[in-house]
Amino acid sequence: MTYLSEYRRSIDQPESFWAEKAAALDWYQAPTRILGKDENGMDRWFVDGVMNTCHMAVDHHVAEGRGDQVAFYYDSPVTNSKQAITFAELQRDVAQLAGALVALGVTKGDRVLIYMPMVPQAAMAMLACARLGAVHSVVFGGFAAHELAVRIDDAQPKVVLSASCGIEVGRVIEYKPLLDKAIDLAEHKPQSCVVLQRPQATAPLTEGRDHDWNTLVAASAPADCVPVSATDPLYILYTSGTTGKPKGVVRDNGGHAVAMHYSMKMLYNMNPGEVFWAASDVGWVVGHSYIVYAPLLAGVTSVFYEGKPVKTPDAGAFWRVVDEYRVKALFSAPTAFRAIKKEDPESKCLQGYDLSCLETVFMAGERLDPPTYHWVKDLLGVPVVDHWWQTETGWAIAGNPTGIETMAAKAGSATLPMPGYNVQILDESGHEVGPNQQGAVAVKLPLPPSCLPTIWGNFDRFRAGYLSQYEGYYVSGDGGYKDEDGYVFIMGRTDDVINVAGHRLSTGEMEEVLAGHPAVAECAVIGVSNELKGQLPVGLVLLKDGVEIDPEALQKEVIAMMRETIGALACFKTNLVVNRLPKTRSGKILRKLLRQMADGEEYTVPSTIDDPACLPELQELLQGLELTG
Ligand code: COA
Ligand code: AMP
Repeated sequence: MTYLSEYRRSIDQPESFWAEKAAALDWYQAPTRILGKDENGMDRWFVDGVMNTCHMAVDHHVAEGRGDQVAFYYDSPVTNSKQAITFAELQRDVAQLAGALVALGVTKGDRVLIYMPMVPQAAMAMLACARLGAVHSVVFGGFAAHELAVRIDDAQPKVVLSASCGIEVGRVIEYKPLLDKAIDLAEHKPQSCVVLQRPQATAPLTEGRDHDWNTLVAASAPADCVPVSATDPLYILYTSGTTGKPKGVVRDNGGHAVAMHYSMKMLYNMNPGEVFWAASDVGWVVGHSYIVYAPLLAGVTSVFYEGKPVKTPDAGAFWRVVDEYRVKALFSAPTAFRAIKKEDPESKCLQGYDLSCLETVFMAGERLDPPTYHWVKDLLGVPVVDHWWQTETGWAIAGNPTGIETMAAKAGSATLPMPGYNVQILDESGHEVGPNQQGAVAVKLPLPPSCLPTIWGNFDRFRAGYLSQYEGYYVSGDGGYKDEDGYVFIMGRTDDVINVAGHRLSTGEMEEVLAGHPAVAECAVIGVSNELKGQLPVGLVLLKDGVEIDPEALQKEVIAMMRETIGALACFKTNLVVNRLPKTRSGKILRKLLRQMADGEEYTVPSTIDDPACLPELQELLQGLELTG
């Protein structure tokens, strides 16, 4: 088999292609209708399939004799603990936790919100929901109470699963006060909260609403897998869009399971029994797909790491984990490797580790810049694979299919479209452009399995944001080009989404926070290039007439507001007071122009600009900005 033959078949005969991939999984009722349409007219995969994702990912392996194989290696330098959890132990614990959810009244279709640090119970929580056909929504632990409240109101969970605290480098983050505050702020009130008490900080429980995790689980009877339709939702994962309201990306059960299972071999070249490590967090899509679901579905052991690439305790953390668990493939974000390089430029921390097990390094989450690509490749002497994907798809749109045929890499490119994705570059009027011409990166419908069929509770937003711009295409929001060999180059977002340390954030949302300061009349937030974190947000504000405030004091106040509302992960540290903001005559702030000035790029002043006289002041302010992450 070659990449090309596989890819062509996926595009020319999608139904037989995906039927064949689906046959590798343990369905209760195998699908016979491979591609259908739903009530919104969206393509849906495996429409008459009946299954359970937890059964396929856990119980199936125990039944097949893999019960004693390790499913998760939990490694937590921040708590100094390690644990190996076998598939049989995972099945027992997940069934028991699912029983606890049943005791709280959770049934198929109910939503359960998971707000947890990187402890294995977070994965068990996801799987327990899947076991019952309940829809989980994991919220990244770094988000503040307001963000959590917005997600509670949108998903309307019956139950919240949480922990007393998470542990960052050198400090304990208490989760429970954030959860309590979020529930206070939210209109929707979950019936119950289940709190995993961690010794680093225990939390007081609210009588009648909160339950101690271990007590509740110990008192519950194990629950069996509930059959669901392939098109039933497995989870909702919120991601940043261009407005302040995050989008609830919906993932179905069947398409997701098939794509996850298929990609583990096709893209990552992983076989049952081998060890895979996605150094990310369950709060992000990478964590959902490649810490939890895909490895388990493929019978692969997954490393579950509660730590950072640096400072836990040093820049050798990745190398220690790879060596200790004999990791075959490591997946992380370029920013993590840039952090290692900054901390340990001469790679002293690599010494003494045996990395002969490591065959490939995969990177995603942001563009893999050529210097980082070369640094990692030269350092480790293994192929480094950039692959491009989004929360919306759940797996790579473009990558290097190392399980079929490793294609020659080109620095700066995410390599080739993955099977199932008909990637096209479109110009403004929606025409496909030729090689090396930049445009909007789009995928011709139908999208392959696992891609979102809707935004939770809001199909109109899905249509408006992704499908209506060019008839018959899904628009990714990224700009880029394909070269003469069909290699895909992703050059950055074409909207107000920025990427900070591999975290996707909305500048629109940050502007809403800035605008909430009583001194601010108008504002813009732009993403400025940064060597370590990829991009960092910078605020520009115009004060209300007559307001006098020291810019330093204002900066302190808005930084605090940003941490309080969005969370520390926004990395918002720079706020500039300006006299004017550049706008078009119709009043739209020219954010791209501001970003180009800050990045020292060449720019052309749009003819629609209202007041070009404001530019010299801004140019002076923005050029030479020294940003710290
Ligand atoms: N809970 C609470 N706070 C969190 C958090 C969490 N789960 N994650 C991050 N934060 C906080 C950090 O403590 C930091 O707070 P501070 O400003 O008080 O110091 C702030 O948010 C910014 O975090 P971050 O940008 O992540 O910086 P960092 O110095 O902690 O770590 C990296 C830098 C590069 C090591 C880290 O960002 C990283 O590993 N990124 C990869 C992300 C990723 O995996 N993306 C998925 C695609 S593969
Ligand atoms: P997320 O939904 O958080 O995974 O973020 C998706 C966005 O991250 C994409 O739309 C891109 O802008 C960016 N991204 C992810 N992977 C890559 C990559 N390999 N190259 C360039 N950009 C990437």
